[in-house]
Amino acid sequence: MMFIDSANLDEIREGFSLGLLKGVTTNPSILLKEGKRRGVIVKEILDNSEGIVFVQATGSSYEEIYADCQEILAYGNKRIALKIPANIPGFQVINRLKNQNNAPIILATAIFSVDQSLLCGLAGCDYIAPYVNRMANNNINPYEVVNKTRKIYDDRGFSTKILAASFKNTNQVVDIFTAGAHTATVSSDVLRSMASKELASASISGFNRDWYELQSRLEFVKE
Ligand code: E4P
Repeated sequence: MMFIDSANLDEIREGFSLGLLKGVTTNPSILLKEGKRRGVIVKEILDNSEGIVFVQATGSSYEEIYADCQEILAYGNKRIALKIPANIPGFQVINRLKNQNNAPIILATAIFSVDQSLLCGLAGCDYIAPYVNRMANNNINPYEVVNKTRKIYDDRGFSTKILAASFKNTNQVVDIFTAGAHTATVSSDVLRSMASKELASASISGFNRDWYELQSRLEFVKE
């Protein structure tokens, strides 16, 4: 199970054509690249994808983040889930939303440490998004963070799933799954390089060449 981290409709359509994605993750920086109103692009993403579409709430205070969550939920589509930052106002909002009837699906985002993950598990988050490449860039070992998080979640019976994010290359994806991530969200570039390997392409071209050669020889025999 994997997600695509994009708001670009061509990338989303190409990703879903592989038949293995379970949804889409977005953030304000990803939306900025498309330059459309959030409500418009979210609707377009819903129309061009399947599964969960994560939309990130913004704001610096509890009030702002909560109000933005309400605006996102008011888009009124059951496939929409909330991404909420794992900081103090974010945890306050998560606490309020998770204590309401029909609590939305919540992914706690911007995870850089195990203590944050522990709080997300206790808060009843459905997913957490540890930022693999951003951790690596800041001398934090993302594999250790995910491995310890997974141990805590499994030992305590938390249902929170680790949805790893922020990848620069495919090795990071493989290593984070090995470290215990339940799932991941990847950019279209990373997804494409997972699905298309030079050595595989060279082998496949060789088989195709030999197949056409066989066809032409059989044609010749017929004559
Ligand atoms: C996902 O939750 C994050 O918003 C995203 O993956 C960050 O990726 P980046 O570090 O490549 O910007």
